[in-house]
Amino acid sequence: MSYIIGVDCGTSGTKTVLFDHTGAVIASETIEYPMYQPKNGYAEQDPIHWKKAMLDTIKSVMAKSGVSKDDVKGIGISGQMHGLVLLDKDNNVLRPSIIWCDQRTGAEVEEMNRTVGREKLVEITANPALTGWTAAKILWVRNNEPEIFSRIAHILLPKDYLRLILTGEYATEVSDASGMQLLDVPGRKWSDELLSAFGIDKSWLGQVYESCEVTGTLTKAMADELGLNKSTIVVGGAGDNAAAAVGTGVVEDGKAFTTIGTSGVVFAHTSSISIDKAGRVHTCCAAVPGAWHVMGVTQGAGLSLKWFRDNFCSSEKETARLMGVDEYYLMDKAAEKVPVGANKLLYLPYLMGERTPHLDPDARGVFFGLSAIHTRSDMLRAVMEGVTYSLRDCVEVFREMKVSVSDMMACGGGGSSPLWRSMLADLYNCNVKTAASKEGPALGVAILASVGAGLYSSVQEACGAIVRTDKVQAPDSEKVPEYEKYYQLYREIYPALKEKFAALSAL
Ligand code: XUL
Repeated sequence: MSYIIGVDCGTSGTKTVLFDHTGAVIASETIEYPMYQPKNGYAEQDPIHWKKAMLDTIKSVMAKSGVSKDDVKGIGISGQMHGLVLLDKDNNVLRPSIIWCDQRTGAEVEEMNRTVGREKLVEITANPALTGWTAAKILWVRNNEPEIFSRIAHILLPKDYLRLILTGEYATEVSDASGMQLLDVPGRKWSDELLSAFGIDKSWLGQVYESCEVTGTLTKAMADELGLNKSTIVVGGAGDNAAAAVGTGVVEDGKAFTTIGTSGVVFAHTSSISIDKAGRVHTCCAAVPGAWHVMGVTQGAGLSLKWFRDNFCSSEKETARLMGVDEYYLMDKAAEKVPVGANKLLYLPYLMGERTPHLDPDARGVFFGLSAIHTRSDMLRAVMEGVTYSLRDCVEVFREMKVSVSDMMACGGGGSSPLWRSMLADLYNCNVKTAASKEGPALGVAILASVGAGLYSSVQEACGAIVRTDKVQAPDSEKVPEYEKYYQLYREIYPALKEKFAALSAL
């Protein structure tokens, strides 16, 4: 029997799963770590936490499974996109990683538009300058921490830092590199024009591979530490969303998925490149060689629910502990009892600014319509509905772009909530399927590794053999028009507040 390891370096933790060649889970381990918010709108993590979590989870799945190291054919790595890892010439981490949801780079985005021009940026990178993407973060370090900037020898994305630990190689792959805003996305290679415009030395960046290509094998030290063979391959892997696409079989035109993790993403595969000139959704290289994808992003999806849980749901936490169930399960049950519209309460999930469709780092969360009748359960339901309204915003842009999203899968932590899935089906007004495997990104990169190891001849063939769908949630014809009324009102709230958000940020 052949086995593959999939590692997913997420925002709340790193999950490592050992799969057999049919995609069945043999062992799984997750280790959590903190996110630091030193200022309003800032978000950082410590790459050493990611490294430790990866090593400990790999050791744990190997120990739990008892699988022989000779049968482990490869490793795939996935991770949160856009995070900036800066290393000196001896591979020391120069500062905490500024991660995807950090919004400090408004001035650098303006600088990018000034120096390169908005249209040129879209032409090369398929996206407008974005505050959360890596290029703006590099410029922020240059503008604000020149001493650190002067010591940069390597720039890596979160999962590519983990690859360096495993293989000693400085490498990346096209899906995650697309989110650095330094890649020529149509050409799938670094853009010399942008690197020179931003003063970034090409030697700082890793070699770019396709996601299923082999980027190296384990170093002797790592093989010994992890109890694996030195010949174990590590493939390119993918950014978490491109990896989830492979893990849910979204590898052909017409297929799409919604994931509710810390961020919320609506993602569609496109075999030819499709760009939203207004920049409301992103276009990136897919993990399928020669293909692309479009994705709309809600910055604060699961993050909103986690924020609500941590600040207002201590009783659910305690009850869940006593009952031995997940606290989100109890929160789901409480929200289920509240009618559609949360008793006329709306929530805007902009706790970390917003991308699709507003592209506004200054936007902030709002409860709209709060009254003395409202309870915590109403607020909880409003949070879940507000996140879903925001995901519907993404679908609206796709529909405008004529990108088909009718074959929709749901995944991520939120995708396992029946209530959230029903909200998605009602607000998209289409069936929402779930993948039989809950392991989206980890399975996706394991599939890529199985292709790299030669177990399958293509990503599509591997997905056909491994990915299975499970439940189908149909829209409820009575609830669809109810939600629609609230969604139309929701759409009017941000434009009414846009200038006030900017004023608040400037205070
Ligand atoms: C995508 C994005 C997030 C992160 C974190 O552009 O920023 O989905 O990848 O999961």
